[in-house]
Amino acid sequence: MMQDITQAKEAALAAIAAADSADALAEVRVRYLGKKSPFTAILKQMKDLSPDERRAVGPAANEAKTAIQEALAAQQEAIDAAHDADAEWVDVTAPGTPVARGSLHPLTRVQRDIEEIFTAMGFAIADGPEVETEFYNFDAVNVPTDHPARDMQDTFWVQTTPAGERQVLRTHTTSVQVRYMQQHTPPFRIIIPGRVFRQEATDSTHDHTFHQFEALVVGDDVSVAHFLDIAQKFFSAFFHADIKVRLRPSYFPFVEPGFEFDISCTKCGGSGRNSEDTAACGACKGNGYLEVGGAGMVHQNVFVAAGYERDRYQGFAWGFGLERLAMMKYKIDDIRHFHSGDVRVIRQF
Ligand code: PHE
Repeated sequence: MMQDITQAKEAALAAIAAADSADALAEVRVRYLGKKSPFTAILKQMKDLSPDERRAVGPAANEAKTAIQEALAAQQEAIDAAHDADAEWVDVTAPGTPVARGSLHPLTRVQRDIEEIFTAMGFAIADGPEVETEFYNFDAVNVPTDHPARDMQDTFWVQTTPAGERQVLRTHTTSVQVRYMQQHTPPFRIIIPGRVFRQEATDSTHDHTFHQFEALVVGDDVSVAHFLDIAQKFFSAFFHADIKVRLRPSYFPFVEPGFEFDISCTKCGGSGRNSEDTAACGACKGNGYLEVGGAGMVHQNVFVAAGYERDRYQGFAWGFGLERLAMMKYKIDDIRHFHSGDVRVIRQF
């Protein structure tokens, strides 16, 4: 019987060493420690043994069982460890899973570019509300009460304040000028990027909601020459080209004198011609220049509305559409793409 025990133990240990999976090991456990195992059979025969024999066989059977249990546990651990290593294995040559990447909206990119160029020139960035009082949007910046811009056709009028003030969705970032000047004393130079609204029919170059970019520089002796210099530097940095700025006399109630300003064409460089032949340049239609925005020397009435003494300061202001710049920079042919929400447009940036 002692021999049976030794044999069963050896066989069990060999089977355990050979089991290379959790399932195989479970089978071995049942085979050598289960109900039909050799040990169960041996224990059943114990009752027929003499007390002396029993004293020898009992401990031997127990010792064999313990050895088998320990071997089972050790093998189970080894199998688990191998399994973990398998799970951790990575095929570094397998093609990756593409990750959906977001991107910045072209207007955000343009706005950041502009802010970077201006802050490098010492400008601060100012902000104001999109729902604005009639005062800041029109009266304070010298827009006459009967000016057509106040008309129902151009302006989105919104609810009057409880105090009885008429309100609009601001029609230009010029509305922030007097707000800022009431809080600050010159000299200062600021830019005012922001969303503006006009009640007008949309087409490829007009939208009811768009963005403007105001620049305002006020001090003791600010002149049109300063404006020209800053504008030239800004547009050259923005387009990474040598850009010339051209002024044409124009009228805006909040400036005197007022200008419309053009920049030399970003495609033909101002010649109005394509380089290869003499055909008119497609971007500027042969003009050599592109219209960009309005500008001028701040009207003294605006300073007075802000609480400054008349004729105490001089300053220039300009305003232009952000979408227009983005269209030039990225060759986008329809302003409505910007707010279309079409991801095919955005994904290109
Ligand atoms: N506010 C004007 C517009 O919306 C632009 C402008 C700003 C013109 C500042 C002159 C000076 O068209």
